[in-house]
Amino acid sequence: MDTTSAQHSLWLRSTSAPERPTLRGEHVCDVAVVGGGIAGLTTALLLKRQGLSVAVVEADRIGSGASGNNTAKVTALQSTVYSTITSRHGAETAKAYADASQAGVSLLTRLVREEGIDCGLRHAPAFTYAYSPDEVEAVEAELAATRAAGLPVSADDRLDVPFDVHAAVRLDDQVALHPLRYLLGLADAVDGDGSVVFEHSRVERLHDGAPCRVHTAEGTVSAGRVVVATHYPVFDRGLYFARLETTRSYCVAASLASGEPPTGLAISAGSPSWSLSSYDGLLIVCGQGHATGDPAGAPYEELEAFAREHWDVERITHRWSAQDPTSYDHLPMIGPYLPGSDRLLVATGFMKWGLATATFAATILADAVAGTPNPWAAVFTPHRVSLTSLPDLLKMNASTGLDLVGARITPADATSSEDLPPGQAHVVRDGLGKTGVYRDRAGRLHGVSLRCTHLGCLVAFNAAETTWDCPCHGSRFDVDGAVLEGPATQPLPRREPK
Ligand code: FES
Repeated sequence: MDTTSAQHSLWLRSTSAPERPTLRGEHVCDVAVVGGGIAGLTTALLLKRQGLSVAVVEADRIGSGASGNNTAKVTALQSTVYSTITSRHGAETAKAYADASQAGVSLLTRLVREEGIDCGLRHAPAFTYAYSPDEVEAVEAELAATRAAGLPVSADDRLDVPFDVHAAVRLDDQVALHPLRYLLGLADAVDGDGSVVFEHSRVERLHDGAPCRVHTAEGTVSAGRVVVATHYPVFDRGLYFARLETTRSYCVAASLASGEPPTGLAISAGSPSWSLSSYDGLLIVCGQGHATGDPAGAPYEELEAFAREHWDVERITHRWSAQDPTSYDHLPMIGPYLPGSDRLLVATGFMKWGLATATFAATILADAVAGTPNPWAAVFTPHRVSLTSLPDLLKMNASTGLDLVGARITPADATSSEDLPPGQAHVVRDGLGKTGVYRDRAGRLHGVSLRCTHLGCLVAFNAAETTWDCPCHGSRFDVDGAVLEGPATQPLPRREPK
């Protein structure tokens, strides 16, 4: 099997698990959890430990989304996040974020131990480092912000990497693991004794009532409460799509002909950022982020070139990518789905650091269900008002407005697909609309409508991953229109290619 095509993460390709049942017919339980990633499964396990019956409803396979396609770093030191939070929200909020993130790392470590999950967990220091002298200032600012937030950091630029590091912040006792094996261990712990994990069950509709009901194509779960843990909230209420921006980022893993990969969990402070880690002797390099729906450039080639510049790379073994929503005010959104709602809960906006953040999010959600006060609930409520970030909110939505009318999309560039080379896509004018046409390596044409089925923006082709991506809220579709990533739940209509 070719493991170097996009979407074949090291984690997904090194693990197989038996399929879990599809939701069929009527299922009744205390809490329905939509989404089988870190946030959903951790919440489900904490709720089950409270004595509640839980049904996790996953659209695809466990860990098939961001949770199985990440950098596998579980850390409270997250690039320059504390500088950002401090400047937007103040030191107290940064301290709450630091406390919650450290608690997320501790809880994950404890769950691995208590549930006996075999996921290669190892402790390692995390670093935010300056790859160039230009980044030293940002690293020093992050050192000050993390100290003020109460993290036990130090200034230490002794990373075990084969290039000069100009400055670094270090936080010890963070965690690396095999994220998919961890997720499968969580799913095993959730399953049984009245709780169940469903796969291949895409939730299409949600009814808020007593009971709440979540509907898939073949079944329904009735529950007192629903936790929406789909990474990007899939239901168009609460205006989440107007408050979240999605970005894609990319990873490669490489075997080395000589030398060792780094043992620490490092990320550079500049742009582009270079995120470094290792697993089982493989070097992992991640980065090349860009807004979803914007041209991707050649991210895998850039990451490979960086790896080959600094290490004796034998071969690239895996390539993968992930998508992450970030809120307009750069804090996660965790709590009631709607203001005052206690039946619908949500967690989103993990800003690329979901292994730690989604884990602490689960404690907030589980406390909300139990009615237990949580020290971070007010900080991360989705319904906070961040006055200092309002200009970002307006800018984000002005850009989405342009995408809705199609103003940022390349106009139709062809009238026929006859000369379209294999492996490429273009846009064909089709009466009053536009059709996206892709020719696969075998020469077959695949045509789809370019109108995103979420709210109608025009999707754009992502050549790095052979997908149609929506710039408005990050929905993604394959070349035949199937939904790869929400908030869209319906496929792009297929069109006969011209
Ligand atoms: Fe919202 Fe496409 S994801 S319009």
